[in-house]
Amino acid sequence: MIVLGIESSCDETAAAVVRDGRQVLSSVVASQVAVHHPYGGVVPELASRKHIEAIVPVVNGAIAEAGIDETRIDGVAVTQGPGLVGSLLVGFSFAKGFAYGHGIPWIGVDHLEGHINSVFLEPDPPPFPFVALLVSGGHTSIYHVTSHREFEPMGQTRDDAAGEAYDKVAKMLGLGYPGGMVIDRLAARGDSGKVFFTRPYLDKARFDFSFSGIKSAVGRYIQTHPDTYRDDQAHIAAGFQAAVVDVLAYKIIRAAGEKGCGHLAVVGGVAANRGLRDAITRDAAEKGITVHIPALDLCGDNAAMVAAVGYHRLKAGERAGMDDDVYSRVKF
Ligand code: KG4
Ligand code: ZN
Repeated sequence: MIVLGIESSCDETAAAVVRDGRQVLSSVVASQVAVHHPYGGVVPELASRKHIEAIVPVVNGAIAEAGIDETRIDGVAVTQGPGLVGSLLVGFSFAKGFAYGHGIPWIGVDHLEGHINSVFLEPDPPPFPFVALLVSGGHTSIYHVTSHREFEPMGQTRDDAAGEAYDKVAKMLGLGYPGGMVIDRLAARGDSGKVFFTRPYLDKARFDFSFSGIKSAVGRYIQTHPDTYRDDQAHIAAGFQAAVVDVLAYKIIRAAGEKGCGHLAVVGGVAANRGLRDAITRDAAEKGITVHIPALDLCGDNAAMVAAVGYHRLKAGERAGMDDDVYSRVKF
C-alpha cells in the first residue's frame, strides 16, 4: 500500500510517500525557520500563510521524488493534531481535497503518534513492548508502547518541553531561533564542569520532567555574569546540555527497567541532539538495553512518520469523514 503523508502542525510543511508503512520513497520538508527567525519563535498567522504557499509544491515534490504517478497512491494520511489550528487546517483540508479528488481513503493522524512510530522507518525497529522518550519543541514525555497504536503515558513535563528550554536558552545567549542545534554544537566545544546547573527533577516526580527552572537558572547566570558570559557561552551551553541530558537519559533508562523492556526509543526534534544520543546509547548499553533513535531527518517534523501511522490505520479499515476537524491539544 502506498500512502501519501502530509504534515503541517507547526512551522514545517512536509509531504512523504511511504510504501507499506516502512519504506520511505520520498520525504520533502519545507522549513519556515527563516520566516520566524526574526521573531525568535513561531508566529502562528505567518505559519498558516506559509503553509498555504508551500503545500502544493511540497506534495508535488514528494510525488515526483518518489518516482510514481499520483494515481498509484492508495491512501492519504495527514496530521490532525495537536498543533497550531491554522497550520493544521492547511494540510488537513488539502488532504481531504486530494483524497476526494482521487477517490481514495484518507485518515487523520496524531502528531505524537507519528513521532513514536518514526522508529519503524528505520531498518531495525524495536519489538513491542518498548519505552519511548518523545522530546521535541512542544512535548517531553515517556510512553510504554505496546503496539503501533497503544501508548501508556508514564510521565511528561510539568512546564516547558526540553526543546522549548533549548530554544529559550539560545535566545537568552543571543544565538537565534531555533536554538537546539546551535547549543548542541556549542556544547561540544565547552567544558560541562565549568558552569554547573542542578539536574531538574532527577530524583523526584518519577517520570515527570521540569525544564523551566533550568532555563531561569541560565538566565540568572547571564544576569550575574554580564561581563564574562559571552566568552563563556560554550561552557554555559555544555553545562545546560549536560543537566538536561542527564535527566532525560536517567529517566528513560529507569522507565525501561521498570517495565522490563530490553528496547527503548528516542524520538522528536531533540532526539537529534548529539549529547543525548551518545549518553543514552552509552548508559543503556551498560544495562543491556538496545536503543533506537531515528536518523536525523526523521527526528524533526516530517511526513514520513505520518504516512507510517496512516498505513496501519488504513489497513485496519479506519477512514476519516469529510466533516472531521483538527484539534490543538495533546490527547495522551
Ligand atoms: O519535533 P520538532 O521538529 O517539532 C515539534 O514537534 O516540536 O522539534 C523541534 C525542537 C526545537 O525546539 C529544536 O530546538 C529542537 O527540536 N532541536 C534540538 C536539536 N535539533 C532540534 N534540540 C537539541 N539539540 C538538537 N540537536
Ligand atoms: Zn514534532
